[in-house]
Parts: sequence; C-alpha cells; structure tokens
Amino acid sequence: MFRTNLVRAAILASAASICVSSANADPVDQELVIDGTLKIVTKTAAPEGHPFDEVLSGWLFRTEETRAMEADSFDNPGMLRVEEGEALWSTVEGTAGKSCASCHGDAAESMKDVGAAYPKWDEASKKPINIELQINKCRTEQMGAEAYEFDKGGQKPLTAYIKNQSLGTPVAIDLKTGEMQKWWEMGKETYYTRTGQLNLSCSNCHEDQMGKNIRADHLSQGQVNGFPTYRLKQADLVSLHNRFRGCIRDTRAEFPKAFSDELMALEVYVTWRGTGLSVETPAVRQ
Ligand code: HEC
Ligand code: HEC
Repeated sequence: MFRTNLVRAAILASAASICVSSANADPVDQELVIDGTLKIVTKTAAPEGHPFDEVLSGWLFRTEETRAMEADSFDNPGMLRVEEGEALWSTVEGTAGKSCASCHGDAAESMKDVGAAYPKWDEASKKPINIELQINKCRTEQMGAEAYEFDKGGQKPLTAYIKNQSLGTPVAIDLKTGEMQKWWEMGKETYYTRTGQLNLSCSNCHEDQMGKNIRADHLSQGQVNGFPTYRLKQADLVSLHNRFRGCIRDTRAEFPKAFSDELMALEVYVTWRGTGLSVETPAVRQ
C-alpha cells in the first residue's frame, strides 16, 4: 500500500516535472551552413492549417557544441555511417546477383532529392511507404535478398545514405496521391491523443511545451527532417520509428511496432508538419 502510493507519487511528480515546472529557453537565432557552403533551411513559414506560424528544426534547440558538429560534415559522426551506406549501395547481394547500383547507378544522381519526398503513396500495397520499406521492397522484389529487419543490417546506413542525397532540399510530401490524405488524418489523430500512465500526447510536449526545458532536454517541435539522426546519447544513428517509440514509451504507454499502420500514419503527418525544412540527414542531436 505504502509502496504503491510512493510509486504513484513518483509518477505524478515526474508528470509534473514534464508538464509544469519548466523554464523557457528560446531556440537560437542562427543559420546552419554545412561546410561553409550548403545553406540549410532551419526555420520557415508553416504550411496552411499548421498549429505554428513557423516550423523550426530541432537543430535550433541544441547546444552550441552539438550544432557545430552538424555544421561540419567532417566532425559529424553520422557521416561515417553514411559512408557505410555508400559501400552497401554497390554491394551485390541476393539470388539475382545485383546491387542497388546495378539498377540505380550513381546515387548522387538517381537518388538526388528522392528522400525529401518520402513517405510516398505505394500503389502496390495501398499504403504509404518510407525509405526503409522501399529498400526492403527492392531487396525482396528486385534482388532476391531478404528484407532487413527493423534497425538491423544495412537498414539505418542505407536509409541515411539515400536521405543524405537530399541534404539541404526542403521536405515536401505529396498528400494528393492515393489515400495519403486519409493517412495524414489518422496520423493527426494519433498526434493529439493522450496515452500512457502520464496521459500525454505528442502535442502536449512538442506543441504546448515547445521551447521549455524538461530535465536535461530543450523541447523542440519534434521535427523529422534529420532522420536517421546521430544521437550523442546512443553514439549511433537512431531511426525515426525508434525515436517515435521512445517518445511514446516515455509516456509509459504500450508502444506500436515499427512500420505499423499507426507509426506510418504518424510519419506522414509529422513529416508534413516539417514541410519546407531542409533534409538534414544525418542530423546531430543529443
Ligand atoms: C533490379 C533492379 C533494382 C535493384 C537491384 C534495386 N532497385 Fe530500387 N527500384 C527499382 C525499380 C524498378 C523501382 C521503381 C518501382 C518500385 O518502387 O519498386 C525502384 C525504386 C527505388 C526507390 C524509390 C525511388 C523514388 O524515386 O521514389 C528507392 C529509394 C530504391 N529503389 C532504392 C534501392 C536500393 C537502396 C537498392 C539496393 C538495396 C535498390 N533500390 C535495388 C529497381 C531496382
Ligand atoms: C514527455 C514529453 C514528450 C512526448 C509526449 C513526446 N515527445 Fe518527442 N521528444 C521529447 C524530447 C524531450 C525530445 C528530445 C528533445 C527535442 O528534440 O525536443 C523529443 C524528440 C522528438 C523527436 C526528434 C526531434 C529531432 O529534431 O531530432 C521527434 C521526431 C519526436 N520527439 C516526435 C514525437 C512524437 C511523434 C510524439 C508522439 C507520439 C512525441 N514525440 C511525444 C519529448 C516528448
């Protein structure tokens, strides 16, 4: 009894620290220019129907040190993983004896700006598809290779390599094809639904508390334009669905499977919320 009360008090205290007692700290007013040449859009006017006037990249909320790491591709530890992806691009695998390069040639040309337009409608599965799933589709249907399991094998480095071919390009997804609009609505619903013992929705943190400090974190808008992201905490690339699951787990809720309909819908909706921000993959975050 006493123990249960203590546990409950601890949960309430942590909910309170998340929602109430937090200090405000503005995002920085700075420009991100990678390697002194490539201008990155980290702040732009929000698309119509957006809850904010301006969409802001998570980069603006990170410490000076972390921001500097992303501004220099030599210092960005995520670039090593992108190079791994580059090697995988021309590695032959599967019964067809092909590599990605056998069909797609030089990724700098064939994959240029492709990542900025995902997720996309996939007519075959009648669902939205992201880069991870498109890679699996090519592996199974074109190469006679096995699909990568979530976060395993070459999934993160190859995804990062493909997205990196859109570095600097503004995110713009097409909601007009197929049933993308319906998935957008489903994602929006999830975004605003409170879950878990803490009874929090994405919007409670990334909209209501944006700009506040909770624990050691400066809350951003929770944008997805830098994924897969290099997280200093993990010292590795972190995939988008892993991040989603982590944020949901923090509310002490059951978390959905990677690439489930629920998380794909969330990816469609949250990607739209970052419309106009440059792709930053691999972004550096704490
Ligand atoms: C045998 C040829 C072949 C191989 C090998 C192949 N692909 Fe594909 N790829 C295709 C075709 C055809 C399409 C378009 C139809 C589709 O979506 O499946 C495509 C589409 C794509 C797209 C979407 C492009 C866009 O504009 O939306 C990506 C990304 C991609 N492939 C990545 C890869 C990667 C990564 C590999 C290696 C793991 C690979 N492909 C291997 C034939 C291939
Ligand atoms: C309890 C508060 C909380 C909730 C609820 C929450 N997040 Fe987060 N989220 C964080 C914190 C803290 C971070 C790390 C700092 C930051 O970028 O805001 C973060 C980071 C992120 C990032 C990475 C941003 C970047 O720039 O790399 C994404 C994406 C994200 N959250 C999406 C979501 C989504 C989608 C939901 C709802 C399913 C959600 N979050 C719910 C606290 C929360």
